Amino acid sequence: MVKATAPGKIYLYGEHSVVYGYPALACAINKRTIVEAQKKNEGITILPKNLSFESVKFKIGGEEGNEIPEKQIKKLDYIRKSIKKIFEIKSEKTGLKLKIRTELPIGGGLGSSASVTVATISALNELYGLNLPRKKISKLAYEVEKEVQGSASPCDTFTSTMGGLTRVEKGKSLEKKKTPKLPIVIGYTQESSNTKQLVEQVKQLKEEYPEIINNLFTSIGEITKRGQKEVQNRDLEKIGELMNINQGILDSIKINNLKLSKLIYAARESGAYGSKITGAGGGGCIIALTDNKEKTANSIKVFGGEPIKTQITNQGVTIE
Ligand code: MEV
Repeated sequence: MVKATAPGKIYLYGEHSVVYGYPALACAINKRTIVEAQKKNEGITILPKNLSFESVKFKIGGEEGNEIPEKQIKKLDYIRKSIKKIFEIKSEKTGLKLKIRTELPIGGGLGSSASVTVATISALNELYGLNLPRKKISKLAYEVEKEVQGSASPCDTFTSTMGGLTRVEKGKSLEKKKTPKLPIVIGYTQESSNTKQLVEQVKQLKEEYPEIINNLFTSIGEITKRGQKEVQNRDLEKIGELMNINQGILDSIKINNLKLSKLIYAARESGAYGSKITGAGGGGCIIALTDNKEKTANSIKVFGGEPIKTQITNQGVTIE
C-alpha cells in the first residue's frame, strides 16, 4: 500500500486571468488530500471519505456495465482520468483500490480537485514504480484538469505538486519561489462553486468586451508582479492593499456574490491588511492577510462564514 498526500492552495493574486496566460502568485496550504493506493486482482474500487460521492467500482476504459449515477460520474472524473493517464504510461493494468479523503472543502476554491488529481497520480506513480519526476506529475495533473474543466491554468496543479509559493505565467517556466511566512486566515462561505461554469462565464464576458477585460487582466498581471516584490519584502500593508485592488477587479468580472462580499468586508473591518476571493469565486472561500488571526476569524464567523486557520506550507506532494 502507498499513501500520497497533496496540499490545497490559495491565490494571493491572479486567478481567472491566469487562464489567459497572465501571471499569478499562489501558495500551498497545509490542508491536504490523502490517497491510499493498493493493487488488487481486477476492477477499480474507489472508497471516498467526505468527497461527496459514494464508494464505487468500475472498469477503467470499459464504462459499459458501469452503474455509477451521472452525478457521481462527474465528481469522479478527476480520479478516473488520473488513473487513465497512468495506465496510458504503464501497460500492466492491475486492479486497484483507492481510499481517498480530503481536509479541504470540495469546490471551495482551495484547489481540492487539483490536490485529488495530484495525490492520485503520485500514489499510482509510486505504486507502479514509474519514477515520474514532479514536473511530469504536475503536467499530467494539469492535463486531467483541462480535460475535466474545459479550460484551466497549470497553477493549481503545479502549486499542489511543488508546495510553497509559486509563480505561473504563460510562456515562462513555472517557478517555485522562496516560501514566505504570511499570516493568512481563510473564510469559507460553506457554499461550493463550479469552476468550469465560472471560467466559462468569464470567457463569455471577455468575448463580449475584449478591450475592457484584457485591460483588466493586464492590470491583474501588474498587481501580481508588484505583489511578488512586496511578498519578498514582506511588506504586509502593500501586499494587502494589492489584494484589495485585485479583489476590485474580480468583483467587476462578476465572480463575487453577497456571501463572499460579506466575508471580505468582515475581514477588512477586523483590521486585516487585505482580503479577496481565492480561486474561482461564485461561492467557496476568501483569504485575509491579518496580524490578528483570532479577531479576523471571529469577524468572519459573525458574518456567517466558517474560518479556516491554516499556514502556507513548503511541502508539496508527499509519499509514505
Ligand atoms: C481556480 O482555482 C482558478 C481559476 O483561475 C481556474 C484555473 O486557473 O484553472 C479560476
